[in-house]
Amino acid sequence: MKKNTVTLTNNKTGKTYEYDILDATRGPSVVDIRTFFQDTGMFTYDPGYTSTACCESKITFIDGAKGELRYRGVTIEDMAQNHTYLESCFLLLNKRLPSAQELSDFDLEIRHRAFLHEGLRHLFNAFPDNAHPMATLSAAVTALASFYDDHLELESEEEYQEMARRIISKIPTIAAFAYRHSLGIPFIQPDIDLGFTKNFLTMMRAYPGGKMHLHANGHEVIKDIEVRALDTIFTLHADHEQNASTTVVRGVASTGAHPYVAIASGISALWGRAHGGANESVIAQLEMIGSVDNVEAFIEKAKDPDDDFRLMGFGHRVYKNFDPRAKILKKLQDELRDELGLDTELMAIARKIEEIALSDEYFISRNLYPNIDFYTGIILTALQIPKPMFTPIFVIGRTVGWITQWIEFKKDETLKIARPRQLYTGE
Ligand code: CMC
Repeated sequence: MKKNTVTLTNNKTGKTYEYDILDATRGPSVVDIRTFFQDTGMFTYDPGYTSTACCESKITFIDGAKGELRYRGVTIEDMAQNHTYLESCFLLLNKRLPSAQELSDFDLEIRHRAFLHEGLRHLFNAFPDNAHPMATLSAAVTALASFYDDHLELESEEEYQEMARRIISKIPTIAAFAYRHSLGIPFIQPDIDLGFTKNFLTMMRAYPGGKMHLHANGHEVIKDIEVRALDTIFTLHADHEQNASTTVVRGVASTGAHPYVAIASGISALWGRAHGGANESVIAQLEMIGSVDNVEAFIEKAKDPDDDFRLMGFGHRVYKNFDPRAKILKKLQDELRDELGLDTELMAIARKIEEIALSDEYFISRNLYPNIDFYTGIILTALQIPKPMFTPIFVIGRTVGWITQWIEFKKDETLKIARPRQLYTGE
């Protein structure tokens, strides 16, 4: 028997089939079953893709058992501690960290591309007051595709990269406009004198013509620590291999649709509370729990098999250990406590949930640890960012991941249109 293969026996017919094992540079190998249907006349069954690798990728690696995450081989701890979000973007797109000159050029280009076509502004007016910014964001990114409709002619690496840099630059502006529209207040244009993250905070907070901040709660200027905290949040969200929204992006890409339409579809997929919508749901849930005294009752609800209540911000399909991003944010949250006034009732409820869940048999036996969303909600609340903007902030961070995965998809000649099969059990 050949070594790097698996042999499968159909016990109904006694026939055996052999499939190659493809080895990974990190993580589990995969069995190449591309000819499985042709060989056996059967499909494989894996709803939710718990055992299915849908592509080969060189971008991001997660070891869920160890709680490890790497962008292009660089650990997330290194990226969060020693590098900015824009460096993460450069790394994901260019497969290496930038030199000082490259970073400066990249930064300058991102600043200059942040403006939206004036025509796109009108789209925001079509949305009702209080429209959720995720709805506006997804629609505006789809609309953006009509302003840059040259995706079928992309040929050179530089053209792909330009498509990527453009969307990374514009997403914060679209998100800030969506937010301001939801409040019925005038848009603030990007300021090319400001870096990526400070610019976004300014577009959220400033009054037209001045630098007063909408949610200042006593601070008149944007503090460096706020910029650092938000930049770290963007870095931690930059990519996460083949998660639900990225799978949607690749699926839409497989049909040949415009990359920004693929990203708009990723935005829609992210909105759900099992995915990126969890950060908003975490805070809504903490508010609903209301007091430290109610925590135990809600923990019991989460454990009850007859109750579909789940603790938001707990559990992950891949991480069966502490989410490494959550570890970084937990540390950041502790650092921010004094400076940003994190010692609130909400924070106390969160701490109590964390404490009980980490020592409770139900959560331990199912490997349910706090995930990134458990901590982002608290930190974003401390940054005076309202709940509906939490998931758009996830979008801002993840856009680079989606577009990098889109580019990788387009360049992989083995890939086909995403078209799964089914187990039909109907009439
Ligand atoms: N609270 C209580 N029980 C839970 C939770 C939770 N948050 N998550 C999973 N379980 C239980 C679940 O009931 C099941 O128990 P049993 O085996 O007795 O039936 C077991 O744990 C396995 O759950 P699952 O639904 O099969 O796990 P999954 O891998 O399909 O789902 C998840 C992963 C993230 C969707 C799920 O853990 C969840 O709904 N968490 C809450 C939402 C959340 O925080 N999502 C953000 C994920 S991180 C950000 C991102 O990357 O998008």
